Amino acid sequence: MLPKSADIAVIGAQWGDEGKGKIVDALAESAGTTIRFHGGHNAGHTIVTDGRIYKLSLLPSGVVKGAFSVIGSGVVVDPWYLKLEMQRLASDGITVTPERLAISSRASLILPLHAELDEVRERAQSGAVGTTKRGIGPAYEDRVARRAIRVGDLFYPGTLRERIAFAIQHHNILRSAYGLAPVTTEEILQSLEAIAEFIRPYVREADEIAEKIPAGRILFEGAQGIMLDVDQGTYPYVTSSNAVGSHASTGLGIALKERPYVLAVAKAYTTRVGEGPFPTELTDQTGQRLQETGREVGVNTGRSRRCGWIDTVQLRHAALVAGIDSIALTKLDVLDDFEAIKVCTGYTVDGDRIPGFPSSEFQQMQARPVYETLPGWRKSCAGVGSFASLPANAQAYIRRIEELVGVPVSMVSTSPDRRDIILREKEFGLREKELA
Ligand code: IMP
Repeated sequence: MLPKSADIAVIGAQWGDEGKGKIVDALAESAGTTIRFHGGHNAGHTIVTDGRIYKLSLLPSGVVKGAFSVIGSGVVVDPWYLKLEMQRLASDGITVTPERLAISSRASLILPLHAELDEVRERAQSGAVGTTKRGIGPAYEDRVARRAIRVGDLFYPGTLRERIAFAIQHHNILRSAYGLAPVTTEEILQSLEAIAEFIRPYVREADEIAEKIPAGRILFEGAQGIMLDVDQGTYPYVTSSNAVGSHASTGLGIALKERPYVLAVAKAYTTRVGEGPFPTELTDQTGQRLQETGREVGVNTGRSRRCGWIDTVQLRHAALVAGIDSIALTKLDVLDDFEAIKVCTGYTVDGDRIPGFPSSEFQQMQARPVYETLPGWRKSCAGVGSFASLPANAQAYIRRIEELVGVPVSMVSTSPDRRDIILREKEFGLREKELA
């Protein structure tokens, strides 16, 4: 069965949208606690349980399964969106009680002015990133610039007023530059006071959260992907938080005794939304075929995703910076009908081979993939129960990815159906040691 005790961080190995939801969903049964440690409601996450589909963006998936859940200090919280998400869940029969959800008092708030700034900048900037326009970047900017309003500030009216007045000094300068009307302390104070009562029962200090976390597995739910990590990704075309598993502890706000097992989710090909370098992108019919077969449309934004072949240079970089223990390979079935499948094994810039994934935007844009072509399997993989029963060419494809990335593939998802996950326990002795 699925791993029993060690904590696990499920993170994205590419540019997000790898199908983390399905993997988290499969593991959530075994978790006593689920934790969001970075990002905000820019993420999209589908949970299927008892035949019902729940779509979450900010809440950890454990709230659906009844596990204790935490929104950690590394998350940016839009309290109005949180209320909406909870109300939606309540209308589906799931009430999120303060016994089931804790929100760190140290998490920063996303205010409407952050979303407005995100939107107006994306429109104005020549170097637009293609953000979700949900205010994620501006909220993180305020956090590191020490002018954020934090969740815990909501309950101290004097401090709250001061914090708002300080933050809007800066924001009104920006707003004027972008042609937005100024905001006042009073209007923000009033709207925050109104939402504070809703959020108050869930807000906890770090020691209270530590006390409430039950024994058993903690599942850290990563959002976005390593290539969107603000430090390790394709900067500046990234999100504004750290998506690597090693951030789990700081993003929870409580130190862990042991690092969690890092399970990175990768698609059997590659996709990205928004702008930025994507060395294996296919702008031809093959790319369109991947887009159509994989139904590659963003959950939150409805944007078509850019598609390309799997990139083992990018995945090796991900393994290096995120300490990936194993990969969960998703959407293998999307490749079922391809006659030949390409795997990127290296890059050249100006005809010269370069080592690894470059840090500079210039080299990332110039990098030309070196491909190896493998034969397709021309057979449906859906519903196949074990690795050994996969078509031989599908097995060879997965083995070659493992070889090139240097990390084992421990899970393979072969259809959108939540039951169609191959767990390769038997193939890996390490499964018992690492995941048992
Ligand atoms: P932001 O996180 O809204 O600031 O967007 C920054 C970049 O990250 C943009 O390219 C977004 O498309 C991308 N991004 C943010 N969240 C997700 C996600 O959940 N999946 C895929 N891409 C995302």
